[in-house]
Amino acid sequence: MRSPYQPIAATLEKVAEETPNIKTFWLRPAEPLAFRTGQFVELTVPGLGEAPFTPSSSPAVAEQMEVTIMKAGTVTDRLHELQSGAKLGLRGPYGKGYPMEDMYGKELLIMGGGVGLAPLRSLLYQVFEDIDKFSRVMLLYGAKTPADLIYPEQLKEWSKREKFEVLVSVDVGDNGWTGNVGVVTTLIPKVKLNLDKTVAVVCGPPVMMKFATLELIQMGMAKDRLYLSMEKNMSCGVGKCGHCRLGPYYVCQDGPVFTYDKIETLAGLWE
Ligand SMILES: Cc1cc2nc3c(=O)[nH]c(=O)nc-3n(C[C@H](O)[C@H](O)[C@H](O)COP(=O)(O)OP(=O)(O)OC[C@H]3O[C@@H](n4cnc5c(N)ncnc54)[C@H](O)[C@@H]3O)c2cc1C
Ligand code: FES
Repeated sequence: MRSPYQPIAATLEKVAEETPNIKTFWLRPAEPLAFRTGQFVELTVPGLGEAPFTPSSSPAVAEQMEVTIMKAGTVTDRLHELQSGAKLGLRGPYGKGYPMEDMYGKELLIMGGGVGLAPLRSLLYQVFEDIDKFSRVMLLYGAKTPADLIYPEQLKEWSKREKFEVLVSVDVGDNGWTGNVGVVTTLIPKVKLNLDKTVAVVCGPPVMMKFATLELIQMGMAKDRLYLSMEKNMSCGVGKCGHCRLGPYYVCQDGPVFTYDKIETLAGLWE
């Protein structure tokens, strides 16, 4: 039996630049690696180290996995230098992911900030599979500038889908930008929310998650229908090292997805 720390070999098949500091990597594991949307994997750069990422591809595909990664330090800087053909490692999947069955029959509000749209893309692919089970899907996405928006072509495609509303904002526009300018929470008043029927999912940098959460709660969103993806520093991914502690939880095992009512009072929530 493979040790829980032993990665599966994975080949980098393709790399595409999303923004100046974000790339999407297509990985082919030596054996199929099935995951549920919202779960994460540890991606190894041999001889250097590993880091946790949530796949941005469809959970229906186990033979190939896409991961969209922002340059942030040692491992991610090296990943951004790699070309197709590079040999990497994958272990996981870990964590609980999004409980889809709790979302069925509801209006789904998805809010993403920056590279936080990457994990949400995998959720969107799952929602496309299950679209009959949702009455409405709203995606509110924000990035710093138009050049920092990831998946711009897909955002246009998704906005044409039945039942879908896609609203995009940038903190600072440019000459060609005709859309909304302002942080992503400025998009909330632009959708007509039926909060009693809505499930919200928020993923992005801590400051974005904090303000999106506080605004939704102030409007009357139920805390147990507001899902947050907590990206705490992680090491083992399997509940052994304690690096990812958040109050009584190990984020790697009990999360990374939590409803707000479970974590609202915990110290270090937005760090
Ligand atoms: C469950 C989970 C899913 C994630 N999914 C994605 C994803 O899909 N795409 C993506 O680009 N990033 C994602 N991240 C963040 C990613 O893991 C970090 O950017 C990465 O670990 C940084 O590694 P590094 O070696 O390049 O940086 P390091 O050299 O280790 O650190 C550089 C800086 O980043 C900070 N940092 C390290 N780890 C994290 C972390 N986990 N979260 C926030 N800051 C961190 C460090 O404190 C330091 O300030 C995810 C994190 C978690 C926990
Ligand atoms: S990352 Fe080691 S316990 Fe969670």
